[in-house]
Formats: sequence, C-alpha cells, structure tokens
Amino acid sequence: MLILGLESSCDDCSAAVIEETATGPKLLSLVRKSQDDLHGPFGGVVPELAAREHLLQIHGVIAEALRQAGLEASRLDRIAATQGPGLVGCLLTSFSAGKALAWRYGIPFVPVHHLFGHLNAARFEAPALPFPALVLLVSGGHTHLYVSTGWTNLTLLQKTRDDAAGEAFDKTARMLGLGYPGGPLVDACARRAAAPAPKFTPPKFRDGTASWSFSGLKTGMKLRIAAEPGLGEAGAEDPRVQALCRSLQDAISKWLLEPIPAWAERTGAKSLVISGGVACNSKLREEATILAGRLGLELGIPAPKFCTDNGAMIAAAGALLPPSELPLELNADADLPLPLPMG
Ligand code: KG4
Ligand code: ZN
Repeated sequence: MLILGLESSCDDCSAAVIEETATGPKLLSLVRKSQDDLHGPFGGVVPELAAREHLLQIHGVIAEALRQAGLEASRLDRIAATQGPGLVGCLLTSFSAGKALAWRYGIPFVPVHHLFGHLNAARFEAPALPFPALVLLVSGGHTHLYVSTGWTNLTLLQKTRDDAAGEAFDKTARMLGLGYPGGPLVDACARRAAAPAPKFTPPKFRDGTASWSFSGLKTGMKLRIAAEPGLGEAGAEDPRVQALCRSLQDAISKWLLEPIPAWAERTGAKSLVISGGVACNSKLREEATILAGRLGLELGIPAPKFCTDNGAMIAAAGALLPPSELPLELNADADLPLPLPMG
C-alpha cells in the first residue's frame, strides 16, 4: 500500500511517501521545508506568518515528495493528513490539500491525530514493538505520558501542568542568545561543557498528582543569567553558557524519565516509546537507553528525522487508521481530542 502523508500543524511543511509492507513501513521519500529563518527573529513561531508560508510551500513539497518516490499521484492507495491539534491556519493548508488531491484522484483519505503520528514514527525503527507500551510524547507543545495497547490508541497517564519541555529549551536558547529553534542549539552547547553548572531544583507538588512542571526552569534560568552580568550575550563559546545548558538538559532528561519505572510496573509495560522533537535530545536518548535496559523494556525512539514533525509519521499512522467515509465534510481542528481507546 502506497501512502502520501502530509503535515503542517506548526512550522514544518512536510510530505512523505511510504510503502506499508507486511513487515512495517518503508520510507520512499520525505520532504520537509523548515521556516526557521522566518520565525528566528521573533524567537518563536508566529502563527499567521507560518500559515501564509505553508500556502506558498505545500504544492512544491507534495510535488517533490512524489518525484523523489518516483510516483504519479494517481498511483497512491491512500492520502493521510494531520487533522489536529495544532495551529488552525497551519493545519488547514495540508489538510485541505490532502482532501483536494484525494477527491481529484478518487483516493481514500485518512484524517490523522498528530499524536498518533508521533507514536507511529517509532514503527520505522521498531515495527514489531511489544505492547503495552509507555509512550512519552515530548515536543514544543506536548509533554505527555501515555500507555498504549497498540499503534492507534493512547491513554493519558500524566502530563505537564504548564510548559512543554521543548518550551524550556527554546526559551533558554532565547535568553542565552543562542538562536532558534533552541533545542538542538542547547543540546550542541551542552555537549561542549566540561562540567554542569549547579543543579536546578525539581518542582514539588503538594497534591501528590503525577505530573511535570517546566515553567520554573525558565525562571531559574532567568535568575542565573541575571546574576552574571554579560552572560546573556556571551554566546555558545563561553564555558559558563555551556555549563548552564548542560544543567538544563540534565534536569529535563532526569525529570522526564523519573516517573517511568513506577508507571512501567503499574501498567505492565513491555516497551518505551519516546517521540516528538525533544526526543532528538542526545542526553535524553542516552539516559532512556540506560533506563530501558535496566527495566527490561524494549525501546522505540525514532531516528531524529522522524522525531520532529514530518509527513512520514502521518503516513505511517494513516496506514493503520480507517479512511474517512465523508472526507469533504471534515475540517481541521486546533483542539482535536484523541479518540477514546476501543475495548
Ligand atoms: O515535534 P516538534 O517538531 O514540533 C512540535 O510539535 O512542537 O518539536 C519541536 C521542539 C522544539 O521545542 C525544539 O526546540 C525541540 O523540539 N527539539 C529539541 C531538540 N531538537 C528539537 N529539544 C532538545 N534537544 C534537541 N536536540
Ligand atoms: Zn509534533
């Protein structure tokens, strides 16, 4: 089965073609247009600018994905596109393009929840992953832990009370003048540190609810930068900046993985999936590998190109989800809820 996957929920405009085989998805092409230069000067995604840019990019991105796969659109068996959640002006572009293309060629159209996309990104590396799986989805907008009994279901276990972990990376990079998007820049800077700066204090929750909080890290970082004149402009070559990045990365990796052993025991999990942009982080990947080994969990962390938003993960989810019976009636939904797990 040949599937075109489209994704434009935030600032990545992406299309990919996969072939779904008996042994899992095979990537035939993956095209992604970044908007980093457009949003960089603002230090974050400007929704209206992103939406306008997607409109300019989408046709070229789809044409290039088909060209690289060596296919005419008429040969596709399915077209899948992200329906939500995300920025609605952005979502609309690839969702409408997908519906239109499906209608033109009479191809089944599959609306995909963005988080099913991030989960299915793990199928490229680990198509035979054992379930139940703990699924940590961690990006610029999400820091959520789910338990999953298959590739198309997610039941929430815990989430952040405030910021997503990616936000802490992006805001730190902004405060330190490292650039945008922050995650990869903080990661690179942290890897150059000879030693970490003093640890950040983990948040404590009085009500005992299982959750995370990352907003305090932004304040902690702001106070430390303010305490050392010139640090905000010192740049990635400065050992103090490198040490701070390392402490931030150590804290985020540690906090994210801390609840995993208890949830693994409670859910009887056999595997651990980590996906979303922050799953590219080198320290998190390293620590997760050690933890999974210790707990006897099979690990499904996608390759970095599948962790950040991309069309291939949407195609991979679209291979397993049902096509819509009335695709032209569907609309993009900024707050699309996850469907309730069946059974
Ligand atoms: O999944 P994604 O592409 O888009 C959202 O759905 O948000 O994730 C983007 C986020 C950004 O916050 C970016 O800074 C972060 O992923 N990120 C990283 C790394 N690469 C991307 N964070 C930490 N370390 C990285 N290497
Ligand atoms: Zn995402």
